[in-house]
Amino acid sequence: MVQDEKLMEKIVALCKRRGFIFPGSEIYGGIQGMWDYGPVGVLMRKNIKDLWWKEMVQLRDDMVGIDSSIIMNPKAWDASGHTQAFTDPLVECKVCHLRFREDKPDEIADHEKIHKGEKVEWTNPQNFNLLVKTFLGVIEGKESQAYLRGEITNGVHVNFKNVMDSTRVKIPFGIAQIGKAFRNEITPGGFIFRDREFEQMETQFYIKPEKEEGEKWFDYWKQNRMDFIISLGIRKDKLRYKDHEKLAHYAKAATDIEYEFPWGFDELMGIHNRGDWDLSRHQEYSGQNLKVKDMETNEEYTPWDIETSGGVDRLMLVLLIDSYKEENDRLWLSLSPKLAPYKAAVFPLLANKPELIEKAKKIYQDLRQDMMVAWDDRGNIGKRYASQDEIGTPFCITVDFDSLEDQAVTVRDRDTATQERVKISDLKEYLQKKIQT
Ligand code: GAP
Repeated sequence: MVQDEKLMEKIVALCKRRGFIFPGSEIYGGIQGMWDYGPVGVLMRKNIKDLWWKEMVQLRDDMVGIDSSIIMNPKAWDASGHTQAFTDPLVECKVCHLRFREDKPDEIADHEKIHKGEKVEWTNPQNFNLLVKTFLGVIEGKESQAYLRGEITNGVHVNFKNVMDSTRVKIPFGIAQIGKAFRNEITPGGFIFRDREFEQMETQFYIKPEKEEGEKWFDYWKQNRMDFIISLGIRKDKLRYKDHEKLAHYAKAATDIEYEFPWGFDELMGIHNRGDWDLSRHQEYSGQNLKVKDMETNEEYTPWDIETSGGVDRLMLVLLIDSYKEENDRLWLSLSPKLAPYKAAVFPLLANKPELIEKAKKIYQDLRQDMMVAWDDRGNIGKRYASQDEIGTPFCITVDFDSLEDQAVTVRDRDTATQERVKISDLKEYLQKKIQT
């Protein structure tokens, strides 16, 4: 990948130093394409998922959620076409035998540069299946082969009938899901951009099987997802739509929302018109009727599906890149307060004054009932600000000697570094208002 090496290096280093993201199984030398989320990273990840769930499920009348299992009956993957067509074109460098994706010319060109003018020959492309295989069963040698899901989509489609039968949903409606997916990516890379284990947030929105309905809902979800991403504070000029030229085996239409990463525009999330591909195939392979009855005409039909699909990890990377700020000797993440791991940090001005500690602890204990709050009484205030800036904490609250008299504290804003005196009795409401915006 051609990229702004310095920015990516700085972000990777910050993530490790401050407990956002660690290389997977690092003490054993790591494992390609796997990352572990640390104490700060896990909070931000949860915030991303909670916000998405709130918008997609909690605030909508036409969406319900599910949580399906990672391992499914392997027939489901035959039905969805993954065992045959979930492939990337793999080519191997005949000089050093490293393997790459033929459809990533930048990565091929980067590799050829490593051979410095030497003529590099490549093998013919082969279709390499990305599904990760596993084995289930307790009798050795008699285990049956299964797959870790390559996308979370199938678990929704196989439950379409269960959801319709157990709730009051009516077409058009959607099913939302968040969960882990696994792909044996040929070239994992770009930090958490392309992993072998990652998490997806998806909605499958079922509609009447009509061209105009398909176009209407496809356009609706394209706009809806762009608005969501912008609402997270990501810069508009770094985002664009990109229609797919080559459609996946299941798609009638597909658009990506792309972000300008340090290596150029690349996929952040996708919106796909999957037509009736999934439900039709699951009907065919399972022999079950997954059709819906039109109450007006009494006719049965197989609904179409408009899908939105985004990666939690990829969105987190975009948020880290987009919010990374350096000015003079200051470094901070200008994360939206809604996404910041901690909403506030509480400091007693001096760590060796019991009356300050007691007052500050009281405020800390009270605030943490309603939001994630950090405590810091180490070093001087400047160092504490710098440390909270690096993890994007929007507000730092200092309890000083005046606080004992005026029952107020100093609240310092991460982005402007301005300070405001706020009454302790108003503090929670003050923060809650600021966090909502
Ligand atoms: N159900 C459709 C589907 O899975 P996709 O374009 O293959 O479509 C959707 O994936 C999203 O999942 C991508 O836009 C990206 O955000 C995320 N994603 C896909 N592969 C990924 C990987 N190897 N590592 C991290 N995120 C990935």
